[in-house]
This record gives sequence, structure tokens and C-alpha cells, in this order.
Amino acid sequence: MNPFKKNNNWLLCQPELTDDIEAAWFEQSHWLNQGRLLGANSGRGSAWIIKSEHGKWVLRHYFRGGLYAKVSRDKYLWTGVNNCRAFKEFQLLSKLQTWQLPAPNPVAARVNHHGLFYRNDLIMAQIMHQQTFGQYITKKEQDLTTWRLVGKTIALFHNKGVFHSDLNANNVLLNEDQVHLIDFDKGQIKTPNTHWQLKNIQRLKRSVEKISQQSCQKELKPYWDALTTSWQQHLT
Ligand SMILES: Nc1ncnc2c1ncn2[C@@H]1O[C@H](COP(=O)(O)OP(=O)(O)O)[C@@H](O)[C@H]1O
Ligand SMILES: [Mg+2]
Repeated sequence: MNPFKKNNNWLLCQPELTDDIEAAWFEQSHWLNQGRLLGANSGRGSAWIIKSEHGKWVLRHYFRGGLYAKVSRDKYLWTGVNNCRAFKEFQLLSKLQTWQLPAPNPVAARVNHHGLFYRNDLIMAQIMHQQTFGQYITKKEQDLTTWRLVGKTIALFHNKGVFHSDLNANNVLLNEDQVHLIDFDKGQIKTPNTHWQLKNIQRLKRSVEKISQQSCQKELKPYWDALTTSWQQHLT
């Protein structure tokens, strides 16, 4: 799959959507006007749920984080079409699908290029889920099985060399017996190595402690240990 150009937009999509795709798909107003915008799903207001003719989708606009956000909320420096964030995430998610890893199935991506800068968006299939891991850990009832499954799922990605650049508890979606990881912006395929894999685990730990307001060394110790043990056991 390669991006193609339509006016100021570069578009990329699943082959079966090539004849249908429109730049308007990436505008909330397009779906709102058709009564197909089901709601927002992000603290930053960047993810929208859409009821498309092809199924339920999540539309995400890329917003800058950190210091750069003060310079521009959503403009990125253009260094060539294949370096655009949405296209990189689309390609990475496609690879994860071929490996049958539990991650979003990419639908389409758009890059709007103007001179030195670009803005971009990604559409992916919605993953039905009961709750995020972030929501789960604030509840009274905790189940070791759930924590183990999160650890195992992370190991499946790590075994393929998938580095998640922001593995926090809100990027882990839970169902009864399945865990999905989402939000692969800036993710990479690397040679498996404990150093970077541990960084992912440390990032998750900080977020678990922050969200739950509990320590993984104290109150949460049995659960955190279950997660990390299972992660280690499933690393190949
Ligand atoms: N494919 C998806 N299926 C279901 N929900 C999703 C999906 N992608 C994102 N979400 C929801 O939208 C929220 C924000 O999306 P995310 O990709 O994490 O972007 P960000 O953290 O940059 O706002 C997630 O926490 C999740 O609740
Ligand atoms: Mg996120």
C-alpha cells in the first residue's frame, strides 16, 4: 500500500477502499452532518467514534504533546511523505495485523501538506472493549488473571520487536479474555532486547501508579508482580 495524492492531501487506505476514500472522511463535521459521529473518546479530544457504512471506526487527529504544542497544536515539520506520523502508524499497524497481534486494524490515513508543514489523521477499526486498563485499576476488585493477561500480551508484541512509545494504562483495552494495545504513534520495530522492553514496562508502571494512586511495591505488589512475571514467562 502506497500513499497517493489528491489536491493538497496525501491519502493511504486499505485496497478495497481506494475507490471510495475522500478527504472529508477525516473531518469530524462530515460525520456529524450525517448523524454518524457517535462521540469523543479521548481526554485530549483527538479521537472520535464513527459509524461508517463499513463498520465502526475511530478517527484520530494527531496533536502535538510537550513543548512543541505551544508553537503549534497540530502542525508537524514536513520531511517527506513516508515520514509522516499517520502513515508510519498505518504501516506499523498493518504489520501488526499480519502478525495477528491484538492491535487496531488500520483503515485509512490522510496527510494535509502545506509548504514546510503537515497535519495528519488516522482512521482505524474500533476495538470493542469493556474498559481500559486505566479504568480497571481504579476499581476495588482486582483479578490476578487480568494482570497476567496484560503482561502476556505485552510479551507477544515484544517478541516481534514491537516498541510502544507510550505504553500507559489508557492504551491497554480490556475484554473478558482478551487484551488489546492501542496508540502506536512513534512505535517502532526493533531487535528484541531487554533494555528497551523494560522501558515499556517501566512506563506502564509509572502510569499504573499515577492513575491508581497506589504503589506497585506496596498495595499493588501481588498484581504488579503477576503482570511482570507473566510478561517474563512469555518472552521468547
Ligand atoms: N481502535 C480503537 N478502538 C477503540 N477505542 C479506541 C481505539 N483507538 C483509540 N480508542 C479510544 O480513544 C482514546 C484515545 O486514543 P489514543 O489512540 O490512545 O490517542 P491519544 O492517547 O493520543 O489521545 C483511547 O484511550 C481509547 O479509549
Ligand atoms: Mg492514548
